[in-house]
Amino acid sequence: MPLIVANWKMHKTRAEAAAYGAELSGLIGDGIPGRELVLAPTFTALAEARDARGRWALASQNVAAESEGAFTGEVSAKQVADAGCRYAIVGHSERRRIFAEDGPTLARKLARCREASLTPIYCLGETAEERDASLTASTLVRQVDTLDGDPPDLPLVVAYEPIWAIGTGRAATPADAEAARAHLASLLSARRSVRILYGGSVTPENAAALARTGMDGFLVGGASLSAAAFAAIARA
Ligand code: PGA
Repeated sequence: MPLIVANWKMHKTRAEAAAYGAELSGLIGDGIPGRELVLAPTFTALAEARDARGRWALASQNVAAESEGAFTGEVSAKQVADAGCRYAIVGHSERRRIFAEDGPTLARKLARCREASLTPIYCLGETAEERDASLTASTLVRQVDTLDGDPPDLPLVVAYEPIWAIGTGRAATPADAEAARAHLASLLSARRSVRILYGGSVTPENAAALARTGMDGFLVGGASLSAAAFAAIARA
């Protein structure tokens, strides 16, 4: 089932999240057939973003690498599961780049997700420099290596998000997305259940063409801040 995830990043108050939920509810009625929708709000808006009718699930945008203890400011996987999350985004490029999260740290976060029965949405993708140096394939291999300790029999979501496409208005071409999807599918072929999403400047306008690449859904940032745009992307 295609999975469409709204990554709000550090946007929306609780009131804005509640208004978004009400608008999305009106737009999708009983839900969009054949689509799984997920909202990833900030921690503070998880309760307001939750759908009592279960037409969409919740994801946290991050979890702590530790399970519990003296880690001021961190939020654990167990806590976000308790707050209603089914998924957790791990390894978003903004976490890797701005907060210097490396492979070993992300492997620990993946393990914490599994302990809390959260399905990770593990993000990877190459920088513009890596792409220009023809290092896309080897970058993906290195980033997939982080999944080595993750149980292959549990469902996993992987989001291919080329960094040059995130928030730039310059999405990958369908050909680029298709090549990355095929490479990731072969790297992850030993796993029992994996869905590969595309992320990076997805809009209602380009979603249909990107969907035809065989991607199992989208991780949407900027465009997901509008309930109407998010619903349109989910329908594409
Ligand atoms: P974008 O962000 O859709 O704004 O490019 C995607 C993401 O960062 O997940």
